[in-house]
Amino acid sequence: MARVGLDASVGVHAAIVVSVLLAALAAGCTKSEAATADSRQLFANACARCHGADGAGGIPSFGGGPAPRNFRDRDFQRGRTDEQLKMTIRDGKGSGMPPFGSMFDDAQLAALVAQIRSFDPDRK
Ligand code: HEC
Repeated sequence: MARVGLDASVGVHAAIVVSVLLAALAAGCTKSEAATADSRQLFANACARCHGADGAGGIPSFGGGPAPRNFRDRDFQRGRTDEQLKMTIRDGKGSGMPPFGSMFDDAQLAALVAQIRSFDPDRK
């Protein structure tokens, strides 16, 4: 029994690796700006209370809610384009990530994306 379970999880893991590689290929052609003092400030003011000042995520803001995304996760960084990140900031996601709507202009959205990318462990 235990052996069957092990084989299945290896298969699932291989499938995840393949889909992450494909996502990385799709996302590979976009290059984000570098983080600046302004982008850090913006993130600290609007996002850090949930995502953490270091971008490592946090605890759900209500019982049973989704955990705020950990931006230090490689698979997350590879799996989202800059446009997808901007869309999440504007439109929110699920029950936990609030939609910021038109609160940020294009330059601020780009700065927030740069800030999220600065947490990528592969970028240092
Ligand atoms: C009230 C808490 C809260 C605040 C404030 C918040 N977030 Fe989130 N965020 C979340 C949660 C919870 C998730 C996970 C949502 C899910 O996966 O269902 C999330 C997910 C995300 C994601 C990942 C979406 C994806 O594609 O999986 C991004 C990007 C993001 N937030 C960016 C931001 C930015 C930028 C700010 C500041 C402008 C911000 N968040 C402010 C709670 C928050």
